[in-house]
Amino acid sequence: TGMFTFDPGFTSTASCESALTYIDGDEGVLLHRGYPIGQLAEQSSFMEVSYLLLNGELPSKPELDAFTRTISRHTMVHEQLSSFYKGFRRDAHPMSIMCGVVGALSAFYHDSTDIADPLQRRIASHRLIAKMPTIAAMAYKYSVGQPFVYPDNSLSYTGNFLKMTFGVPAEEYEVIPAVESAMDKIFILHADHEQNASTSTVRLAGSSGANPFACIAAGIACLWGPAHGGANEAALNMLKEIGTPDRIPHYIERAKDKNDPFRLMGFGHRVYKNYDPRAIVMQQTVREVFDALKVNDPLFETALELEHLALNDPYFIEKKLFPNVDFYSGIILNAIGFPTDMFTVLFALARTVGWVAQWNEMISDPGQKIGRPRQLYTGPTQRDYVPVDKR
Ligand code: CMC
Repeated sequence: TGMFTFDPGFTSTASCESALTYIDGDEGVLLHRGYPIGQLAEQSSFMEVSYLLLNGELPSKPELDAFTRTISRHTMVHEQLSSFYKGFRRDAHPMSIMCGVVGALSAFYHDSTDIADPLQRRIASHRLIAKMPTIAAMAYKYSVGQPFVYPDNSLSYTGNFLKMTFGVPAEEYEVIPAVESAMDKIFILHADHEQNASTSTVRLAGSSGANPFACIAAGIACLWGPAHGGANEAALNMLKEIGTPDRIPHYIERAKDKNDPFRLMGFGHRVYKNYDPRAIVMQQTVREVFDALKVNDPLFETALELEHLALNDPYFIEKKLFPNVDFYSGIILNAIGFPTDMFTVLFALARTVGWVAQWNEMISDPGQKIGRPRQLYTGPTQRDYVPVDKR
């Protein structure tokens, strides 16, 4: 009963008001609190963008320093949390570990669950932003059988993450500035993207008043899918499978074939019907990282050629399919040394700030209600129960 707007996939429903992020998909514009993503990626830092998303304005120098110190103070995780990892098989996908361990944080911070209190919300947000690198690095360390590396608060947010991931206790770890800067840029590019599937999941989970750590775990679960954050892993696997540029046309034909489930991963977007502005920065960053590490990955040539051929193909032109943020990121992450199954974990790490900023915005909204979509019922009409021996 009742008449509802039917909008499967929410292609035309605004679920909330938000002052965080603006996207003009036709023009390929992405602004955080009004600032263009290109300017933020080139000139800002992930800590500064995090402050901006959480607080609405760019910080002054003392504000940024204080914020960075606060985040540093929360980088360690409860020693007990490390036991959770041991329950997983060594070959567990790190995203499955992330879902479990981040959800488990909810058991450690009962004080953070008084979500009506803005201070408690802020502390929960800071804890999440600070602990994600530690938890992500531990997931990696567990998979390769190396000891967990404790945070080093003398390093930057991103430098510390690199050390916890690639450092070992037996050796000094030196952060390579170009890698640190590229990684920081990648984090900025993933920080927020308005009401995408995982952010909407976090908002919906949070709308019932649920524990914030559990809500972020829900967001991580949603992000994992290959249509969303899992696309960065899928895109690099696809490029590896394609291999050399001569094989590209075959895959383009497959992507166009409606009887073949294959899609070009890292291509197309619900909102962008133009070049994803994040993909532009990402493509430039590939070159910076290659130069700094003095490496060259032939898959980059394959990716460039794939982009070129797709953008000149009537199918992709007509459907307005362009490379998205996930198309080039894998090539950079691969060059830095991350295994493919860590790519989506890095996305989750960076998107955590967007998730908590959106969650805070929602809880602070006086008009906030529990999210409760309706449906168009398509099942049987009322009928009488038949006992099992009469069926
Ligand atoms: N390759 C081939 N055809 C495609 C692709 C693609 N990558 N993307 C969309 N299409 C076609 C699709 O088949 C459909 O054709 P038709 O209208 O004839 O049925 C049309 O383009 C519209 O696609 P849709 O699936 O109805 O659009 P959507 O807004 O529901 O999906 C998307 C958006 C991102 C899920 C989709 O483009 C896709 O699956 N892309 C590949 C996965 C990917 O790269 N995801 C990352 C998204 S960006 C960052 C993130 O969220 O992580």
